[in-house]
Parts: sequence; structure tokens; C-alpha cells
Amino acid sequence: MADPAGRAGQGAPASSLQPPALPCIRRLLAARLLFVTGKGGTGKTTLALAFARASAALGRRVVLVEIDNQRPSLTEYFGRAPGYDPQNVGAGLWIANVTWPEALEEWLGRFVPVPRVVKLILGNRMVRLFLDVTPGSREVAIFARLLLLAEQFDLVAVDMPASGHAISFLRVFTRAAGLFPAGPVRRSMDDAVAMLRSPATHLVLASLPEEMVVNETIETWQRLCEGVPGLSIPLVVLNQGMAPTLSDAEAELLERLSGSAPDPGERGWRQTELLCAGRWEAEREQATDEAIARLRRQTDLALLVAPWMGASGGVAERVRRMEALLVRSGAVAQASAEAPA
Ligand SMILES: Nc1ncnc2c1ncn2[C@@H]1O[C@H](COP(=O)(O)OP(=O)(O)OP(=O)(O)O)[C@@H](O)[C@H]1O
Ligand SMILES: [Mg+2]
Repeated sequence: MADPAGRAGQGAPASSLQPPALPCIRRLLAARLLFVTGKGGTGKTTLALAFARASAALGRRVVLVEIDNQRPSLTEYFGRAPGYDPQNVGAGLWIANVTWPEALEEWLGRFVPVPRVVKLILGNRMVRLFLDVTPGSREVAIFARLLLLAEQFDLVAVDMPASGHAISFLRVFTRAAGLFPAGPVRRSMDDAVAMLRSPATHLVLASLPEEMVVNETIETWQRLCEGVPGLSIPLVVLNQGMAPTLSDAEAELLERLSGSAPDPGERGWRQTELLCAGRWEAEREQATDEAIARLRRQTDLALLVAPWMGASGGVAERVRRMEALLVRSGAVAQASAEAPA
């Protein structure tokens, strides 16, 4: 990526129109377990879909999952709700919703081989109460399901809940392990920790060029680094970023015009509309540069700026464009690595 100092004057603008060369994207597309999280509405589902599709296009068998989502986001994209068992939705791509009751039943079934007895145990009110208040019981069952899927597929891409819940989910295994010195829960927790530390497991953060969102991204990264030691977090995608399109002369003109007639009534409606659009663009460009500079200063994450993709074209078009951006960034990285020195 170009210099984050951007429009401030020194060097190239922060968000260039050229696809960046990001070697980590090739690693992410080759992952076995890939988590995507971020603040609500930052583009987690779009990004998880784009990674899943791009990885499947490389010939891998990919399952894209949501975690115990009562209103699965994938329904809008595929026109059908994902069920517990993976459903094939295209070449190399499956979707699923890892719901807790099913995951728990499956997990218990490993230790209690008679399904009727499993149902009796789960039907017991005291057992239910115990499970509700025991830290980690929910996560253990869900993660066990993810590990099972990782044995059946080349990649499990997880469209995680928003940051706060994702952090709680991922760090429970290290935090609650002490409660279970031995036994099946402890073994499942140890399996989860091992998978989270595996070099084939990665987490991607989705962010937006807005101060509060960038704050949350940095905080999430810090809390995950502390709370889930060994988890690889190589990339943040700054979504809906605006690459500089205004030249310095245009930016200056915009500023002059904005100041020339303070009373909007003195301008024609067309001029006012154009000024508003210009200002929105200039502010978004500046916010993008500031977000890039802060993320660079305060984290060691690789950074991909995904442009604002407009409201037209619908969800599918935006996913397609996000996928193209990922593929290009990975391909440019490979081409750079292979180019003769
Ligand atoms: N770069 C972009 N430009 C324009 N629109 C985008 C872009 N990325 C995502 N969107 C749109 O923004 C909306 C929110 O994106 P998405 O559903 O992926 O976010 P999310 O983080 O999964 O949200 P939630 O927290 O509700 O699950 C969607 O309509 C999506 O199509
Ligand atoms: Mg979503």
C-alpha cells in the first residue's frame, strides 16, 4: 500500500486505486479455519462470503458457517436459510449454521453412544441449568463441530458474530480451562486451543473508515492478542474506504466554492447538490487516510482498503467485487514474489 500520510502532502495518497500486493491473502485463501469478525455492519458477511468463494474457486472444498445465528445472514445471499448440516450451494461451496442444541447433542453423542440416553440427559432441567451457567459449555460444543467440519472440508470459513461476542467465544477456552482439570470438556478445550494456535487458522478483522469503528478494531485486535495467544491475525480490511479521486486543484476549488457563498439559498440547487457530493467524497477520503494512518501506527496488521461499492447492484454484486479485490491482491503479491529481482 502507499504512504499513509496521504493527502497531507508527503508522497502518494494512502489509498491507491492499484490493487495492493498482500502475500497474507494467499495464506488466508489456503487456511483450514478462517474467522471473520468486526463491529456490526462493517462487512463481515460480505468478506466471509468473498473469502469462501475465492477459496472454492481455487478448487478447495469450502464450508461457510454462521454460529448459532437465529436469523442467518446467509439467507439473504443464497435465498435459503443454512441448516445444521452443510448444504451445497455451488461448485466447491457449502453453507451451514452451527446451532447450539444440535452441536451439544452431537458432542454428547461422542461420549454417550445411545441417542435415547443423550436426549434424556439433555431433557433434564437440572442438566440444562448446569449447561447454561457453566462457562465454555456452549462454545465447546460449537467449536467441536467446527473441528469436525475442518476434517471434512479444506476450509471452514466462519462468519463470526460482532467483535465483543467473537472475543468472548474465542478466549473462553483458555479462560475456562482451569475449571476442568480433566475429562471430556477439558479435552475438547485443549483441542480448541490447539486449533486456534495452528498455523492454518487465521482471523480477519473488518473495519470502516470511522473513528469509533477504528477504535473498536484496534481494541478487538489487542484483546484477541492478549486473550487468545497464538492466534494469527494477519489482516484488517478497511471496508467502504474512499481512494483519493480529487486532485489537489479540485480539492482547493471545492474548498473555495464551499466558502464562497455561505448561504445555500444564494446557490442554485444543482451547485448545492454538487458541493454536498464533493464534500462527502472529500470527507470520506480524509477519513480513509486517517483510519489507515491509525491502523498502521497502532497495530501490525496488513491492511486492505476495500472501496465503497455503491448501493446499486445488490449484495451479490458487492460480494463479487470484494472477491475480485481479494484475488487480485493475492495474485499481485504472488507475481511480485516471482518477478526476477
Ligand atoms: N464496500 C462496500 N461498499 C458498499 N456496500 C457494502 C460494502 N461492503 C458491504 N456493503 C454492504 O453493507 C451492508 C452490511 O454488510 P455486511 O452484511 O457484510 O456486514 P456485517 O458486518 O456482516 O453486518 P452484521 O453485523 O449485521 O452481520 C450490506 O448491505 C453489504 O452489501
Ligand atoms: Mg453479517
